[in-house]
Amino acid sequence: MELLGMTTVFLLICISCLLLVATWRNISQNGKQPPGPFALPLAGNILQLNPKNLPESMKKLSEKYGPVFTIHLGPQKVVVLYGYDVVKEALIDQADDFSGRGNLPLFKRVFKGTSILSSNGETWKQLRRFALTTLRDFGMGKRSIEERIQEEAHFLVERIRNTHEKPFNPGGFLTHAVSNIICSVVFGDRFDYEDKKFLTLINLLDENTKYQGAIQTQLYNFFPTLMGFLPGPHQKMMKNVDETDKFILEITAQHKETRDPSCPRDFIDAFLNKMDQEKGNGHSVFTVESLTTSTLDLFLAGTGTTSTTLRHALLILQKYPEIQEKVQKEIDRVIGRDRSPCMADRSQMPYTDAVIHEIQRFIDLIPLNVPRAVIKDIKFRNYFIPKDTMIFPLLTPILHDSKEFPNPEKFDPGHFLNANGTFKKSDFFMPFSAGKRICAGEGLARMELFIFLTSILQNFTLKPVVDHKKIDITPLITSVANMPRPYEVSFVPR
Ligand code: HEM
Ligand SMILES: *[C@@H]1O[C@H](CO)[C@@H](O)[C@H](O)[C@H]1NC(C)=O
Repeated sequence: MELLGMTTVFLLICISCLLLVATWRNISQNGKQPPGPFALPLAGNILQLNPKNLPESMKKLSEKYGPVFTIHLGPQKVVVLYGYDVVKEALIDQADDFSGRGNLPLFKRVFKGTSILSSNGETWKQLRRFALTTLRDFGMGKRSIEERIQEEAHFLVERIRNTHEKPFNPGGFLTHAVSNIICSVVFGDRFDYEDKKFLTLINLLDENTKYQGAIQTQLYNFFPTLMGFLPGPHQKMMKNVDETDKFILEITAQHKETRDPSCPRDFIDAFLNKMDQEKGNGHSVFTVESLTTSTLDLFLAGTGTTSTTLRHALLILQKYPEIQEKVQKEIDRVIGRDRSPCMADRSQMPYTDAVIHEIQRFIDLIPLNVPRAVIKDIKFRNYFIPKDTMIFPLLTPILHDSKEFPNPEKFDPGHFLNANGTFKKSDFFMPFSAGKRICAGEGLARMELFIFLTSILQNFTLKPVVDHKKIDITPLITSVANMPRPYEVSFVPR
């Protein structure tokens, strides 16, 4: 009895010592970690986080815990950065430390950790550098990307003209046009709008935009093993991703047969050349697998984002006919009616430039940003953040900062204009994020937004089907991408 008592006391002392040592080490070596609400085992902060509107939950938590706080998405720990100052300090001033990508389980399943968007370390560095070089204007094919966009804008305008002012939902037309730019860059050519293969591909992407919002898909991020066994939209989504992979593999195989290594036609040819160059290297990151996943990246990251922004744009411009008219006046003055808009025009069109910036600011397309991770143990504002911790550098608090953009919930191109009408730059304009992993398609996306939008307004006036004052332009908030409310519009030739 006494022996048992002694043993218990001894064990208790040992455990206490271990705990003390552990705590002491934690404090002395590492400092404290960012504060946050108490997390339940497995379920994490499900009580504090509304999966349907995470941006709103984040706002509440920041009011309580400040600009740097810790949350748990299920068992996954995440450090949230809230506001311009902390995001700038992290992504720009401590750029290398924060250059990792945090892969939620769904991301891992879709991109396999081998694509530009999802990889880390040396693989990411090389794939990103390669993509940026290849996406740049020159170095690929005979025509510049700008010419490809102009050509596509022309097809888009003709297709709209054929609707003869009948109101319709322009979403499909915009997706086809935007997607064709990526097709042109990656596959070497655009598709006809009626092409069966093209429509199949677009359909796969479209369906996945829907599946991605399903509750089962969100739960996959919390409980991947369990959800992996259960049926539901998330399974359909993965099937679609595998289909898209197959589609890309097929096109890659065709490229292998028809290519001329001395004259790469597109992204795939350039990638195959790179694979040839690195043939002897057993550790090369340029593999058939990373070719498919990187191509998939360009489709997934490049199509929905840009076409949804355009869809918002056409709704907002209907709401404010006076803004639409001012843009059209500027188009008439600088470009006229007889030639295609080009990027050189933009510097002479401060009002149009301000309107496009304001659209991107106002809609706040990707409110939570894409998850990052720290690549080593780091110190940040006196906090300790261990290697591989997932980071959410939120974009909403920056794009809707009320000091930088007075009245942030109001659409006002004045947010980007000086009193004398010149374009006003803002460091808070971060719809593409910032730092080492800033959107790799920013240049391409901005070219598309400018040329598609000015081409449409050069040729048509947007006429709403309801009283313009009644149009609701506030986005439908989701946790991934803010969507415009569904609408129809009539395009009246000018
Ligand atoms: C309006 C359109 C777009 C918006 C708002 C947008 C926004 C973003 C954001 C917020 C990120 C995350 C950056 C970060 O981790 O800090 C990102 C990453 C990325 N975007 Fe975009 N994007 C757009 C269009 C495009 C286009 C057209 C392409 C394709 C050419 C593209 C390709 C990528 C890629 C490859 C990444 C991953 C970069 C990396 O991890 O290094 N995006 N984008
Ligand atoms: C317009 O105003 C801005 C800032 O107020 C100033 O920097 C710029 O030089 C002005 N430009 C012209 C053409 O007056």
